[in-house]
Amino acid sequence: MEIGIIGCGYVGLVTGACLAELGHRVVAVDSDERKLSALQRGECPIYEPGLAELVATHYREGRLQFVDSIRQVVERSLVIFICVNTPSGPDGSADLRFVEAVSQEIALNLSSYRLIVEKSTVPVQTGEKVAKTISRYAQAGVPFDVASNPEFLREGTALRDFFQPDRVVIGSSSTRASSLLVELYAPLNAPLLLTDINSAELIKHSANAFLALKISFINAVARVCELAGADIKKVAAGVGLDHRIGLESMEAGIGYGGMCLPKDVAAYIRLAKGLGYDFQLLEAVQEVNNQQRQWPVRLLESQVTPLEGAKVALWGLSFKPHTDDLRSAPALEIIESLLARGVKVSCYDPAAMPKAALLYPQVEMAADPYAACQGAQALIICTEWPQFKSVDLERLAQLLERPLIIDGRNIFEPQRLAALNFQYFSVGRAPAAPIAQATTDRDR
Ligand SMILES: NC(=O)c1ccc[n+]([C@@H]2O[C@H](COP(=O)([O-])OP(=O)(O)OC[C@H]3O[C@@H](n4cnc5c(N)ncnc54)[C@H](O)[C@@H]3O)[C@@H](O)[C@H]2O)c1
Repeated sequence: MEIGIIGCGYVGLVTGACLAELGHRVVAVDSDERKLSALQRGECPIYEPGLAELVATHYREGRLQFVDSIRQVVERSLVIFICVNTPSGPDGSADLRFVEAVSQEIALNLSSYRLIVEKSTVPVQTGEKVAKTISRYAQAGVPFDVASNPEFLREGTALRDFFQPDRVVIGSSSTRASSLLVELYAPLNAPLLLTDINSAELIKHSANAFLALKISFINAVARVCELAGADIKKVAAGVGLDHRIGLESMEAGIGYGGMCLPKDVAAYIRLAKGLGYDFQLLEAVQEVNNQQRQWPVRLLESQVTPLEGAKVALWGLSFKPHTDDLRSAPALEIIESLLARGVKVSCYDPAAMPKAALLYPQVEMAADPYAACQGAQALIICTEWPQFKSVDLERLAQLLERPLIIDGRNIFEPQRLAALNFQYFSVGRAPAAPIAQATTDRDR
């Protein structure tokens, strides 16, 4: 099938490359000139495991092409996926400027039947607006359909999520449109859910809202664990092993971030309000998340005085491991709070440092996790990259000026850290004091 992709970000590029892998011919465009010229050289402008190889292969073999205009995409594709960003507007509602602009441009170039598919995450009833825009700007009588096919991929495992999805949601009121999408996804043998457009749009927002709710729930329970002397890891395991609840998204930490959950929760609150429902539950989810994200700096302030002029190491910049995506990453909020307090910050991240260096030229981007800690008063862990779990802790203890670790992702066992004389704070577990110091205190 001839496929068009508009917007070559995490979603568009993954969708395009994976559809090419399924044997379709894909033409894609992006309005960001730097991104487009990298793609036109066969380079992958984002870090996502396996994506660069897939893009290079299909680019070389001609199944994945990058063109300069939406006009070329519309001319050459039967099914056109809108994969542009839908950021938060000032009041939290989804800013649909890019979806609207793309819909207009598609309409102005329509000359025969095309299926236009919303893949971007949009509020319920956006499909109706897209269809109205296209009818308004297209030549009278040109046939088209609009469908919703929300994307559920997770950065870091995006290719696996594309090829082995839990489900594919197809929202459309047209049999022709649904049949085309069913045919497109048939090779995946995935459960298909056919629905109307409004339901498909609401499925995506509700799924993200529920994931955010699970994360904020376990983070709130973590706070109770701290007060009650319980261990959140054990509580989460005991709760999550109930198959009705599940273990995923049940890790306590410094909150959710990224391109999707923060903006989608905010947009859901606004869209519900617009429809006449006050979604207080989601407001609480947001509030718990905001508090969680401030925890490391609050704790640091209570432990390191004066904070001004101190050096603090920070491991992990991306909002989660296996991606270089910094959007709404908790680490950025922490860096900004630290800089505002006159702290010297030294970071390490396996993938996101080039992007972070552009945002924070005053922050040291260290060559490795150890170099970041050299002479630091504390280490804050913001992202659970697997390599952090296997660092040489004895070497780390020697490098840190003060062996204080604030672990926002609970990657270490408190007893082990205490035995190595670290002062170790994690989320929802009792702090571990250095064993040597604890003994001395007791002996006094
Ligand atoms: N990133 C994820 O994990 C993820 C997962 C599921 C759904 N989504 C949703 O998918 C959408 C895209 O997300 P993303 O992470 O890929 O965003 P992104 O910012 O990485 O990519 C969007 C791309 O669209 C391009 N663009 C904007 N306007 C354009 C135009 N007029 N013409 C051509 N290109 C244009 C931008 O330059 C950008 O490269 C969002 O609605 C997001 O909520 C994202």
